Amino acid sequence: MFTILDIPVLDLNAPLPEDAGARTGRVYVETYGCAMNTSDSEIVLSVLKPHGYTVTDRPDDADVILINTCAIRDNAERRIHDRLKHMKFFKRKNRNLVVGVLGCMAERLRASLLDTQLVDIVVGPDEYRNVPSLIASAIEGERGIAVKLSRVETYADIVPLRTDGISAWVSIMRGCDKFCTFCVVPFTRGRERSRPLASVVDEVKGLFDRGFKEITLLGQNVNSYRDEAGGSDFSDLLAACARAVPQMRIRYSTSHPQDMSDKLIDTMAEHDEICKYVHLPVQSGSDRILELMNRTYSVTHYLERIERIRKVLPGVALSTDIISGFCSESEDDHQKTMELMRLVRYDGAYMYEYSPRENTKAWKMGDDVLQETKSRRLTEIIEMQRIIGEELNVLEVGKTLGVLVEGRSKRSASEWIGRTDTNKKVIFPHDGLAGYSVGDVVNVTIDRVNSATLFGSLIVG
Ligand code: SAH
Ligand code: SF4
Ligand code: F3S
Repeated sequence: MFTILDIPVLDLNAPLPEDAGARTGRVYVETYGCAMNTSDSEIVLSVLKPHGYTVTDRPDDADVILINTCAIRDNAERRIHDRLKHMKFFKRKNRNLVVGVLGCMAERLRASLLDTQLVDIVVGPDEYRNVPSLIASAIEGERGIAVKLSRVETYADIVPLRTDGISAWVSIMRGCDKFCTFCVVPFTRGRERSRPLASVVDEVKGLFDRGFKEITLLGQNVNSYRDEAGGSDFSDLLAACARAVPQMRIRYSTSHPQDMSDKLIDTMAEHDEICKYVHLPVQSGSDRILELMNRTYSVTHYLERIERIRKVLPGVALSTDIISGFCSESEDDHQKTMELMRLVRYDGAYMYEYSPRENTKAWKMGDDVLQETKSRRLTEIIEMQRIIGEELNVLEVGKTLGVLVEGRSKRSASEWIGRTDTNKKVIFPHDGLAGYSVGDVVNVTIDRVNSATLFGSLIVG
């Protein structure tokens, strides 16, 4: 018998029903895309909880399956279309199953997602408060869609439903106003808006009290954060968080080179809690391409920011995003990107082939770099990064680094895994870890490395 039928829905302010949690409306959520989506899935679960839903990690055991989607590149969407095809097996097993598509692809593809009959509800990123009522209608046989974007929704009053752990995502803003010509995010997530500073600090304090050891403040451009009422900017928010939870590691993702202010860099230097790691997406090393991308900075500005960061934050780790084969990219433009990588020497990079997205400005510019050229350039970029990453990691050999222990390594039950302040992954044997546990910061002396990981041994005492 399908039991969520009689769940009262819609009135979000109503007190929790006496038997909340006792019902068996089981929700399975699968999340694709960036950390914002991971955080949003936790918000959706929190919205559903007062309606009696419980979380399951088994799709074949669920009454509701929600797929939180990404639209950033074509291959991200193709993967989700393939996954949606699987829904027919689950629907065959459970005739009453409700399947929902949430997130950026829901916002982009809207009602067309309902064409397949496999999907019952389509919900955009600013409509998550309506998920319970949409599910209720779907159970009654009425499939539904809610994709209106909002200028004000930040879900500031909703505490995301997280499983206890070491690290937590904290969303501080939504949307993006930058309109890079290649990017769907301004269309799928709408206008930029920030949460009040006090609501973020309260949430961070709550996480500290629950035993979390590390938080990552999230937004598409965290450094354009602005608490309109209080007049605070992102540096003020970082400092307020650092003061509120002195023993916690604080990270942020992701920042835009145009808004990487001296004040932000200085604030990072002032607080030990703020990790010395900056992800600063460059996209290309050619001014001509940066202009076509509407990135609003030049290579000179970018390099000047990097220099400043390195000067004020000695030992800082840097990472970036790079797109290969953007519209009209020549061999010379590509070489300029390679040159920039040689100059900056990033600790890490996320590297992608350009994927044209419908309705963006770049879509109209055409996709004129041959597929084989795009792939070859991407391979060169990845290989260059692998060599540089490994060379930088070799410099860590012999050093003793503070590592936040995250848990057992997947490779071997006798090894632990953790991260340095600079976001480097460290693996070390846990024999003799007397007195230490997950969530502690331990000292590890590095004895060997590869391009992705450091390996070492624990210093006890
Ligand atoms: N707001 C962040 C980026 C979010 S998207 C920023 O500007 O820094 C993450 C990365 O995906 C981007 O930095 C870019 O490198 C890549 N990306 C976005 N749109 C893309 C597209 N159409 N094709 C290929 N890569 C893309
Ligand atoms: Fe997309 Fe540019 Fe906004 Fe980043 S800054 S989300 S790349 S439009
Ligand atoms: Fe993807 Fe949307 Fe994030 S398009 S990268 S899930 S903001």
